[in-house]
Amino acid sequence: MEQFILQTLFSRERIAERVRLLAGEISKDFQGGSLLLVGVLKGAFVFVADLIRHLSIPVEVDFIRLASYGDTMESQELRITKDLELPVRGRDVLVVEDIVDTGKTLRYLQDTLKRKGARTVSTCVLVDKRQRRQVEVAIDYVGFVVQEGFIVGYGLDYAESYRHLPDLCVVDRKGASEEFPRRSSGPREKGVGDDRPM
Ligand code: IMP
Ligand code: MG
Repeated sequence: MEQFILQTLFSRERIAERVRLLAGEISKDFQGGSLLLVGVLKGAFVFVADLIRHLSIPVEVDFIRLASYGDTMESQELRITKDLELPVRGRDVLVVEDIVDTGKTLRYLQDTLKRKGARTVSTCVLVDKRQRRQVEVAIDYVGFVVQEGFIVGYGLDYAESYRHLPDLCVVDRKGASEEFPRRSSGPREKGVGDDRPM
């Protein structure tokens, strides 16, 4: 059986503090209006649950789910497997996503929501993972920035495991591969775990 080592990258306390600040910023930016918050399943469900409880503006919540098909990164095609149930037309929409990697999912979602007639489309992501970005996407609210590594916990999974962990952790897979670089107990690689400069 494969063995994994998890290292805490962002503790539950840091996450709680960051989520509270993000909700404050969002509430301020949309003061006097209301939001249609679109959570991206499954990874964002914990983030959405915490974020909405700190918002001080009226908000409606809906969820969308996407799946990618195709074997290689290049041939990958995205499809909606669970669509929104609330109307989007004319609404200020806030997409809430767990993590941005290549950027393809977020770009697809932003384009889809604009096509559906959203008045504005803003984006809030818990983790902005920079190194493998292929598509430039606008992100309005960012929890944490990392350069690389596979992140789990607080809703994020590896093969459906670890979503229940209260902290954000980085997965360390024994028998290192490119996708899961082995981390020693030495200092963290540059960039990993940096907060977004504010
Ligand atoms: P993108 O389209 O490449 O930006 O992929 C984004 C999606 O891939 C996210 O919504 C996650 O579901 C998944 N993903 C990418 N990196 C990670 C990670 O480090 N941990 C967990 N899921 C990830
Ligand atoms: Mg996701």
